[in-house]
Amino acid sequence: MRVLLTGGAGVIGSHVAVELIGAGHQVEIVDDLSNSVESVIGRIGQVAGVTPTFYKLDVRDEAGLTAVFEEHRPDAVIHLAGLKAVGESVAQPLRYWDVNLNTTITLLRVMAAQGCHRVVFSSSATVYGTPEELPLTETSLTGVGISNPYGRTKYANEQLLVDAAGADPGLGVTLLRYFNPVGAHPSGLLGETPQGVPNNLMPYVAQTAAGKRAKVMVFGDDYDTVDGTGVRDYIHVVDLAKGHVAAIAATNPGVHIFNLGTGQGVSVLQLIAAYSRAVGRDIPYEIVARRAGDIAECYCSPAKAKADLGWQTELTIDQACADSWRYEQGAR
Ligand code: UD1
Repeated sequence: MRVLLTGGAGVIGSHVAVELIGAGHQVEIVDDLSNSVESVIGRIGQVAGVTPTFYKLDVRDEAGLTAVFEEHRPDAVIHLAGLKAVGESVAQPLRYWDVNLNTTITLLRVMAAQGCHRVVFSSSATVYGTPEELPLTETSLTGVGISNPYGRTKYANEQLLVDAAGADPGLGVTLLRYFNPVGAHPSGLLGETPQGVPNNLMPYVAQTAAGKRAKVMVFGDDYDTVDGTGVRDYIHVVDLAKGHVAAIAATNPGVHIFNLGTGQGVSVLQLIAAYSRAVGRDIPYEIVARRAGDIAECYCSPAKAKADLGWQTELTIDQACADSWRYEQGAR
């Protein structure tokens, strides 16, 4: 298939591009480089053997996006372009709503005009808010107790896409709800280089291991979990990327929803221990107060993705830590 990847220069997009090319698809990338660098495109080529065509473009630019569609006539779109920093979304809600919703609205308009009928959307476990049940399944309650504007824009995007599919019986929409993506490409060439202080746990642990941060701040050890620290479902970014390849093939008319996770909960202290094993020495940490908006536990049932897509995770948290550490050591 010819697949257009929005946000394809980002950490998840670059891994998705590699897996798509490996599966024989033709890939075009649009990205405005607001949180990525153009050199990633060449690295995708180094890893995958084929360099995708790249357009520096804001997906809200309808004329620009139309021109890309006219040139490549994609069979499917994987829509990853969007803003994703939780703290920033609290400070800049209008920017988050504008970018995260208007990219999708523009994309759906152009797809309809150009006769493209398949879209896979990058959603998040954040749509489940405070989980009512664990493990989370695709029918678990969504939309209640989402603690920040970023999360609410993900939920709103899901509703927008469901409404679009409701109005167009030919449109196929797949919503992929990512749990906590971690790790990097085993080649050491693709990964995440956070701007400023990392918000998420594994990048912070990586920078602590590298001596860029003094110690990891563990946000609370009084949750009702295995060791009192927060539990999440950390999924290796290469496994996550393969989930997208499985999803495009299955994006038939209608709405399809899948959790992409391992199904296993890992605590903050367990993740620090796994990273310490990868590095070969203990990583210093300190227990501090809980972070506002955090939940105790979040992990999924990946059974539906396994049954319907034939996809399941293959890589462990230890492999994610080893790959993250390899990337961190080569990080420029
Ligand atoms: C966060 C976002 C979520 C988003 C996801 C993207 C919040 C409330 N949620 O999820 O909407 O989709 O990132 O990956 O921000 N932790 C520490 N010390 C740190 C950082 C984190 O102890 O320096 C703990 C947290 O309390 C949590 C776990 O590590 O228990 C994971 O945190 P994080 O990586 O930020 O992800 P989430 O909060 O699950």
